Amino acid sequence: MHYRLIKENDIKPIFLLGKSYFALKSEYSWDRSVNSIRKYLKKSFGLGMVCCDKTGIVGFVLVEKNYSSQKPNVARLTYIFVDKKYRHQHIASVLLDSASEKLKRLGKTDMITDVYTKNTTSLDFFESNEFQIKEKRVILSRKIK
Ligand SMILES: CC(C)(COP(=O)(O)OP(=O)(O)OC[C@H]1O[C@@H](n2cnc3c(N)ncnc32)[C@H](O)[C@@H]1OP(=O)(O)O)[C@@H](O)C(=O)NCCC(=O)NCCS
Repeated sequence: MHYRLIKENDIKPIFLLGKSYFALKSEYSWDRSVNSIRKYLKKSFGLGMVCCDKTGIVGFVLVEKNYSSQKPNVARLTYIFVDKKYRHQHIASVLLDSASEKLKRLGKTDMITDVYTKNTTSLDFFESNEFQIKEKRVILSRKIK
C-alpha cells in the first residue's frame, strides 16, 4: 500500500469508488459530483489523499482546509472512504493521520466532521481516532409558500 496526494487522474476513480455514498438518496445529501471532488485538487481549497495498491485506489480522504473564515485553524474532513474489501486494515486511520500531519504543517489545530447518526461504523471509526461528539443536530425543512 502507498499513500499520496490526489492528482487529476484520480478524480474519476475516487468518484466511482465512493459513488454509492456520494450519491446518497437522501434529499439533503451534499453535492457529490465529479466536479465537487475536483475542488480538492486546488491547494487553496482542500487536501485530498489516496491509498493505492497495485489494483489502483482503495481508499481516500478529502478535507476542506478553510472551514470558516472566523475559525482559520479549523479544517473540515468532508469524506473518508475505504473499499469494502480493504476495511479493518487501518487504511482510513493512516489516511487520517497523513492528512493531519499535512494540516498541522499548515497551522491547523482542529479537524471537524459530521456523520449520519445511523452510520455507526463511521462513528466508531471517528471515536476510535480521538474525535469527540460535540453537538447533535437535526435537519429540518418546509416548503417555501
Ligand atoms: C469508516 C471507514 C472509512 C473506516 O475505514 P477502515 O479503513 O476500515 O478503518 P480502520 O481500519 O482505520 O479502523 C480504525 C478503527 O476504527 C474502528 N472501526 C472501523 N470500522 C469499524 C466497524 N465496522 N465497526 C466498529 N469499529 C470500527 C475500530 O476501532 C478500528 O480499530 P481496530 O480495527 O483496531 O479495532 C470505512 O468503514 C468506510 O469507508 N465506510 C463507508 C464510508 C463512510 O461512512 N465514511 C465516513 C463518513 S465521511
